[in-house]
Amino acid sequence: MIPPDTVQKIIAAARIEEVIGDFVDLRKRGSNRIGLCPFHNEKTPSFVVSPAKNIYKCFGCGKAGDPVKFLMEHEHFSYPEALRNLAARYNIHVEERKLTAEEVEARHFEDSLFLVNETASQFFQDQLFNTDIGKSAGLSYFKGRGYSEEIIKKFNLGFVPDIQDKFTSFALSKGYKLDLLQKLGLTNKYKKDFFKDKVMFTIHNLSGKPIAFAGRKLNEQKSGPKYVNSPENPVYFKSKTLYGLNFARKDISKKDVCYLVEGYTDVISLHQAGIENVVASSGTSLTVEQIGLVKRYSPNLTLLFDGDNAGVKAALRGIDLVLEQDMNVKLVMLPENEDPDSFVKKVGGDAFEDYLQTNAQDFIYFKTKLLKEEAKQDPIKKVELIKDIVRSISKIPDPLKRSVYIKEVSAVMSMEEELLLDQMNSFIKSDISNLRKRKQREESRRPGPVKDDIVGPSSEGQGLQKPSVNTNLKTSGHKGAYQERDIIRILILAGDFIFDEDEQVKVSEFILSNIEDVINDFDDPLYSKVAKLCYNKFINGEDFDTSFFVNNEDESVSKLAFDLVQSPFEYSEGWADRWQIYLQTQKMPDENFQPDSLQALLRFKLHKVSQMCEKNQSRIEQLTSAEDELDILIKLLKVQSKLNQMKKELAEQLGTVIL
Ligand code: GTP
Ligand code: MN
Repeated sequence: MIPPDTVQKIIAAARIEEVIGDFVDLRKRGSNRIGLCPFHNEKTPSFVVSPAKNIYKCFGCGKAGDPVKFLMEHEHFSYPEALRNLAARYNIHVEERKLTAEEVEARHFEDSLFLVNETASQFFQDQLFNTDIGKSAGLSYFKGRGYSEEIIKKFNLGFVPDIQDKFTSFALSKGYKLDLLQKLGLTNKYKKDFFKDKVMFTIHNLSGKPIAFAGRKLNEQKSGPKYVNSPENPVYFKSKTLYGLNFARKDISKKDVCYLVEGYTDVISLHQAGIENVVASSGTSLTVEQIGLVKRYSPNLTLLFDGDNAGVKAALRGIDLVLEQDMNVKLVMLPENEDPDSFVKKVGGDAFEDYLQTNAQDFIYFKTKLLKEEAKQDPIKKVELIKDIVRSISKIPDPLKRSVYIKEVSAVMSMEEELLLDQMNSFIKSDISNLRKRKQREESRRPGPVKDDIVGPSSEGQGLQKPSVNTNLKTSGHKGAYQERDIIRILILAGDFIFDEDEQVKVSEFILSNIEDVINDFDDPLYSKVAKLCYNKFINGEDFDTSFFVNNEDESVSKLAFDLVQSPFEYSEGWADRWQIYLQTQKMPDENFQPDSLQALLRFKLHKVSQMCEKNQSRIEQLTSAEDELDILIKLLKVQSKLNQMKKELAEQLGTVIL
């Protein structure tokens, strides 16, 4: 956690024109600078930077902010990441929150893993450039593949000779611990090098730190696998890593599409040809985490398959995963016998991109055609394949997109649209019901109160598994209704409990004094009514308890209170009699409501602050005309920065309250 005064220092030190100058060519215009907006494509500059006010604003797309905001938007940094980046740039010392002993240890351990990998990467590069064998075997190999020295250095490529313990003995002599070398897979259990006689590829994480290596054999004739990889380790998770993403992320954002290839060499060759929005999955099938990484930068993914790829069909199955994430997936087959590496070398970067443009096919259509070819005359197979395609379509979250696909597939396969729709809906239903069952299983594994003892006579569905009150009660459905309801739930059910024994503060007093400033901002009319009722009592110094609500003259209020009282997870009337039962299953209410109310309060506040953030942001974006609005803009931006800070603090606090 960065202390607030340090945050202020950082914000005061950051110069907007310097921060943006790293990414955008800015020209002077009057007291301002102007350039091409990095957030949208434009030919004439409408991106204005005001050094005097320390802000930027694009009059084309509406994006605006201060230096922190710029880094968050442009570099996809989180708020603290952006602050740290600026702090480093302006030499401001950031005193971190005091870490626990375990955290310190974990961080040291991680740091030392990075350090060892960094040393190894440097060692492999040194072997490549500065030893005779490295030059004659390694460097000539890379040059033979057409790599420039610049690209070899950029990707930290290296070499390791055929000597049993060249690296290990070097690392040990530098004082690195054997068990660290072994954890990283650089040294085997016989204390010898794992990588021998290889050209080396350094694998980086998102911020460019070396986390693992791949070694490629130099001689195709030699037996054994073509590539060997570092094992997974505490800083390297295969399923969460995409090779090249640290170099590609800017270009993926800018071009709003990510190319996915299979091999390290494909990534490197494309980069050299000026195509930088490309990453590799390194021979494994795509995972949800990897898709999530790409999605941070663009919702568009184009998969490049080798012309002779026998694995396309296997790969197609994995793609349902991508559809589920609401990504737009296209697919390109390269010409026969070409992979991206060989093809881009043959035709050059421009022709390569042209080829992708003309040959990229929508994934669903591609799959349809491919399978249609395969099924041809076999009606049984045809049924299977239609199910297969419709299942893929059913994974797409957007109903509009789904119906467009169903229409097209029905045309291609000459099948009635109605039938396909039915099939799709049944897939969706079964997905939903599976999801529900899974949730219920998880729910029932969690300790809860004994059901039939507490569920009141009026509640329907006796015997059925009932979800907890948190999902049970109807909310008006708008965003944030849950956070609001949670606050109301606690006010009604536990408002007269003592929150703080020493100070003799009641739960209701604690909560109401904390939400005073937003008491009129509840979105849900019913919750708003209850909040105001409570607040009036509070400022008049009147006590209230659950029965005040249950017996309230306003029928909607008494109905709400009644529902809450009846719900299984709450402190229902007569709960004291049931302590024996609760004790086996759930903490006693007076043990539990304190963290419960604190957490509900934080969640509610976080929601309200987020709402204000959104409103403020949309006001910023609506400002369209130039100079004269700058003053308003600055005010709004200041507010935004304050709100972001609050959001961050609330989120951090929430993370530390344990229920
Ligand atoms: P080059 O032949 O050097 O151009 O590599 P490539 O990337 O064209 O190789 P290929 O298309 O055969 O494989 C694609 C990717 O799969 C590679 O970049 C590796 O990440 C992975 N891969 C290929 N062969 C092996 C192997 O034998 N072992 C492991 N672990 N991975 C492999
Ligand atoms: Mn290749």
